[in-house]
Amino acid sequence: MKVTFHQMEVFECVARRLSFTRAAEELGLAQPTVSAQVRQLTDAVGLPLFEQFGKSVQLTAAGRELFATTRELLATWSRFEMTVADLTGIKRGDLKVACATTAKYFTPDLLGPFCAAHPEVEIELAIANHDTLVERLKRHDDDLTIMTLPPDDLNLERIPFRDNPLVCVASTSHELAQQKGLTLADLRNERFIMREAGSGTRYRLEQFFAARGFKPKVRMELGSNEAIKHVVAAGLGISVLSRESLDVSPELDRLAVLDLEGFPLQDEWVAVVVRGRRLSPVAAAFLAHVRSTTTRTTPSNKANNRKK
Ligand code: PGA
Repeated sequence: MKVTFHQMEVFECVARRLSFTRAAEELGLAQPTVSAQVRQLTDAVGLPLFEQFGKSVQLTAAGRELFATTRELLATWSRFEMTVADLTGIKRGDLKVACATTAKYFTPDLLGPFCAAHPEVEIELAIANHDTLVERLKRHDDDLTIMTLPPDDLNLERIPFRDNPLVCVASTSHELAQQKGLTLADLRNERFIMREAGSGTRYRLEQFFAARGFKPKVRMELGSNEAIKHVVAAGLGISVLSRESLDVSPELDRLAVLDLEGFPLQDEWVAVVVRGRRLSPVAAAFLAHVRSTTTRTTPSNKANNRKK
């Protein structure tokens, strides 16, 4: 089969964007050039790679196979380029990191010293909630993922490196804000502001409540820790958030951490890489850097925490 590297790059882009127009924009090529490259590749494969539905295109079964193959080939090639760079003593290349929405509060602090030590490395940082990270892991989108509750059904290497205490917060003017020794029963009539379904914070909290038979009254679901903090500060309800998302002095944001039995809920941040996938030198160096920052203080309780 006579296929060129350029054809595969063009096809990968069209398949990822599901659009010839957007792929042409991304690649800086004219659209007829993109179409011609894909046509030649289709001829070489001998099966249609795309189906047209009105204005949109979808991959055929052969197209999906080729998409997975080209992504693997391109990733392998990029690792080869980095290995060559590494052999000449230069750590350069791309590093694709994905982190949970809540990990955005500390991930830049991990990247900062690493980038200072390796100024030639280009970083792509994707920030997404737990479920989206799992989807990205399945597609091998990233070199390294920072999350909690890594799924058991994927073959992953897990490196726990940092505690993630979850705390219950209310407005500083809330009547429970100053009380000591609160129990879940004291929260019976409170309205909860929850993170969206698919969030790791929410999974963890739901596990905790379910284990105690507690059914929270939910006022609102929000996809952003920052939005939740504002809503809680305004007195619309109480919430459970990662301590990472709060200021060192939460009262500056008009938030009080409640003295609630069972809290802080212990959880842990884990750096995750797909097992068996060879890491690029840059990704391996970053993983080593993350390991070196380990600040976990509590024993691993992941057996209890894992999302079922
Ligand atoms: P999330 O991340 O709640 O922003 O999804 C935290 C986590 O995964 O526990």
